[in-house]
Amino acid sequence: MLHILSVDDLSNDFLYSLWQEAIFKKGLINNKLKGKILTNLFYEPSTRTSSSFYSAMTRSGGAVIPINDVQFSSIAKGESLEDTIMTMSAMSDAIVIRHTENGSARRASMVSKVPIINAGDGNGEHPTQTILDGFTIYCFNNKKLSNLRITLIGDLKNGRTVKSLVKLLNRFDNNHFNFVSPSQLKFSNPLPSKYYETDNIDEVLKDTDILYVTRVQKERGSRHNYSLSMDQLNSLPKKSIVMHPFPRINEIPQEFDKDSRAKYFDQIQFGVWCRQILLERVLS
Ligand code: NCD
Repeated sequence: MLHILSVDDLSNDFLYSLWQEAIFKKGLINNKLKGKILTNLFYEPSTRTSSSFYSAMTRSGGAVIPINDVQFSSIAKGESLEDTIMTMSAMSDAIVIRHTENGSARRASMVSKVPIINAGDGNGEHPTQTILDGFTIYCFNNKKLSNLRITLIGDLKNGRTVKSLVKLLNRFDNNHFNFVSPSQLKFSNPLPSKYYETDNIDEVLKDTDILYVTRVQKERGSRHNYSLSMDQLNSLPKKSIVMHPFPRINEIPQEFDKDSRAKYFDQIQFGVWCRQILLERVLS
């Protein structure tokens, strides 16, 4: 049984073959998952991730049990994660879970009878976001994930998308990471081989191929607010790309959306394509 709990569960070969198929299929409607049922179990708010899985599953002919408002489920009565997982694994063929606690997806996988897909566990990981983030880089960087200068800005201490993405990109040759955050929100995971840390984005903007912007995670106790100006964004190299897992609060002005370097809406589209292929692989 294939659980997707961490980026460590995704080999480069698996990712390349998934991305190749995603480029080819581009979300094409089919019937491969007809008769299959997915549970979307979300203990934290989500717009993109839950809808993206819903769209992906439906595109392949499958059905979804959406549990997005846990306050209206038995969870609100105090049911344990284990009991909820046992219950939903008796009714569905795979479970996508987003939870407030680091390690919760792994806990779920210990009792589940069906594959578990981690859609974000507290400040732990978010491997399916990394599948689409990696795909975005793959598409806009001539199918390569090496020789990159990646600047990550925001809440690097709590941002699970950052942690998963750094894990992936650190596997490839000659990638250099710029971590930009105030000292309280510094990247706390094992550091990659080549990195530079600063609290001043202006030091590194010109030396950036990929700018990965994240919000400050208020719900995990982080304070601090920042927004990049049009002048700062315009000083990025012409061939660079700007990514953001969203939701954005005010980190990137809307005015930048029409700039050809802005790729955050492509990421959302790519998420559906990639998750569709992922579900087809996990469920068959
Ligand atoms: C991210 C998450 O939930 O970790 N959102 C997403 O899934 N695209 C990022 C965030 O919440 O800031």
